[in-house]
Amino acid sequence: MSDEVTVRRARREDCEGILAIYNHAVLHTTASYDYEPRSLAQRLDWFDAHERDGYAVLVAEQASDGVVGWAALNRFHDRVGYRFTAENSVYVAEPWRGRGVGARLLGPLMDAAHSMGLRAVLAVIDAQNEASIRLHARFGFERVGLFRQVGFKFGRWLDVAYMERLLPGPKQDGES
Ligand SMILES: CC(C)(COP(=O)(O)OP(=O)(O)OC[C@H]1O[C@@H](n2cnc3c(N)ncnc32)[C@H](O)[C@@H]1OP(=O)(O)O)[C@@H](O)C(=O)NCCC(=O)NCCS
Repeated sequence: MSDEVTVRRARREDCEGILAIYNHAVLHTTASYDYEPRSLAQRLDWFDAHERDGYAVLVAEQASDGVVGWAALNRFHDRVGYRFTAENSVYVAEPWRGRGVGARLLGPLMDAAHSMGLRAVLAVIDAQNEASIRLHARFGFERVGLFRQVGFKFGRWLDVAYMERLLPGPKQDGES
C-alpha cells in the first residue's frame, strides 16, 4: 500500500494537510502534549520559519488522499552552541498508520539532517508510543533518557523518552 505514496519537500500549500494531521493527533493522542488544535496561521508561520532557517519539511502524498503524512526537522534550542542538533517530528494520518509511511518519511528526513551537517537528531517521544519508538529504533535512534511524569494529558501523568541518532556532523570548515 505504501508504495502508492511519494515523499517530497513540502510546499506552503501543504500546510493545511499538515495541520489537519497534527490537529487530529492533538485531539486524540498523546503524541503531542498540546491540548488545543493549532490555527493555519500558526502553521504557516512555522513553515516560513523552517524555510528561512533551512530546516527540512517533508510530506508523504497519495493520489486520492493528498497529504497522508509529514515530517520535519526543528530547531532544538535557540542558544548558538546547539546549532548542530535538531529535534524531529513525524506524523501520519490515522488511516495510513502502520503501513510504512512513517518509515518512508524518516529515511529522507535523516538524509536532509546529514546534508545540513547536523551532529545529532533527537526524537522526543511519549514513552508509551510504541509505534514511534520502533520507527526511530529502525533508523538507528537509541534511547538516551527518560523523563518521568513531565507531561499531563487526558487526566494522567506521562513519561517522555528521548531517543538520539548521531550523524557525522559539520564539515571541518563549517564548525567555527
Ligand atoms: C508514529 C508514527 C509516525 C509511525 O508511522 P507509521 O507509518 O504508522 O509507522 P510504520 O508503518 O512506518 O512502522 C514503523 C515501525 O513501527 C511499528 N508500528 C507501527 N504501528 C505500530 C503500533 N500501532 N504499535 C506498535 N508498533 C507499530 C512497525 O511495525 C514498524 O516497526 P519495525 O520497523 O520494527 O517493523 C505514526 O503511527 C503516527 O503518526 N502516530 C501518531 C503521531 C505520532 O505518534 N507521531 C510521533 C510523535 S513522537
